[in-house]
Amino acid sequence: MATKPMHLAWFMNFTPDEWREPFGQGGSPWDGRFYIEMAQTLERACFDYIMIEDKLMVPQTYGGSRDIALKNAMMVPKHDPAPLATAMGMATSRLGVVATMSTMAYPPFLLARLCSTIDSLTRGRFGWNIVTSAEDLAAKNFNMDKLPLRETRYEMADEYLEVVNKLFASWDTDAVVLDRENGIYVDPSKVRTIDHSGKHYQVRGPLNTVPSPQQKPLYVQAGASPRGRDFAARHADSIISVASGVKEMKAFRDDIRLRAEKIGRDPDEIKVLFCITPTLGETEFEAREKYKRQLSSEHFIIDTLSSLSAITEIDFAQFELDQPLPEKLVTNGESGTLDKFQQWGSGKTLRELVVDGGGGLVSSVELIGTPDQVAERMGEVMAEVGGDGFLITTPVLRVSRRYLAEVADGLVPALQKRGLARTSYKHELLRDTLREF
Ligand SMILES: Cc1cc2nc3c(=O)[nH]c(=O)nc-3n(C[C@H](O)[C@H](O)[C@H](O)COP(=O)(O)O)c2cc1C
Repeated sequence: MATKPMHLAWFMNFTPDEWREPFGQGGSPWDGRFYIEMAQTLERACFDYIMIEDKLMVPQTYGGSRDIALKNAMMVPKHDPAPLATAMGMATSRLGVVATMSTMAYPPFLLARLCSTIDSLTRGRFGWNIVTSAEDLAAKNFNMDKLPLRETRYEMADEYLEVVNKLFASWDTDAVVLDRENGIYVDPSKVRTIDHSGKHYQVRGPLNTVPSPQQKPLYVQAGASPRGRDFAARHADSIISVASGVKEMKAFRDDIRLRAEKIGRDPDEIKVLFCITPTLGETEFEAREKYKRQLSSEHFIIDTLSSLSAITEIDFAQFELDQPLPEKLVTNGESGTLDKFQQWGSGKTLRELVVDGGGGLVSSVELIGTPDQVAERMGEVMAEVGGDGFLITTPVLRVSRRYLAEVADGLVPALQKRGLARTSYKHELLRDTLREF
């Protein structure tokens, strides 16, 4: 069993909390205070980062209408992650804060400027979850009828990264001299235009912000397709992924490391974190009962299917719940998530697919039990996979303070006791925290 510590991150949506359940917070999440408290709790538990997911549309694929999404508050309302990440970062001192922003939505100059500003405001703890967007509904909010094909989206994203990297380097790190005697704030010889003129972007530069503590944000990515994996292996500091079981987790991580090596990158610079949704109880029996209760809730199946419909743009309301899917489904949207969910060839009914693995969508491996049992299993899984850590969330991405306490005050101490999680931070910059081990 591994005694190397693992990296821990937390995956959240800026959406309502577990509002339907008896232990929901019962108030409005929109002033951000509930989530700021969450960040502070995660910092107490020495997490590497908190990541805020994002989408840029109101879903209406499930049943061809917005009704279920709005009534159930599934993926909507959803507020902008960048201001929340800033507020969280300013209310903490070591935890990394990662916001999702789409290369489809932001012009590169604006994104680079925003990232640089937040990295300065959080003293070097900002990360950008790079997404290309996967929904035609989102594209329609940005002067398009349809999304470009995945291949083109990644081609554009590669050039986008080239542009923002040039912008981040358009100021030398020592450009700000703040020389009172000679009246010089910025040394002009250390700031340059980038004059980028490519197939998709024309950007002159330079950036108009000072170099931030990390110079560029931590890059987080979740590419799952072969093209997406290449992109992630080239650019990402941390890759987040959902796999089906330990074998797939290991295969994914090995594949990413190989792709990184092939382009001359040190694979240890990339931390692959696998999504999990542990169910914790005071006894194993209690945890199993809780798990069963959760999955048999009347809302669980609809919430899972409506969110899956939103991100794959396939209407799952059209299929019989107690029959297998009629054919292998394909999408120009989030194909990795779809493939993991549909387990094509397994013969399982749609209902079984939903229930499988705690909802099938966000859990890479089943973890049910006491904090000690789950911590022990997480250690075994990491030892088999080879590293690097986990991204913790809940099955339908809604969260309560109670669940947070179970993780921060139950699971994390059980990991720490085994030498599997850090007990204090050693670094101030997020990139250094990720590279600590
Ligand atoms: C854990 C995780 C979180 C993700 N978060 C987002 C997100 O916030 N916004 C988004 O548009 N896509 C998100 N995605 C989708 C990925 O960016 C990517 O499109 C998806 O994994 C499919 O990979 P592919 O584009 O290579 O097919 C996420 C994926 C995973 C696995």
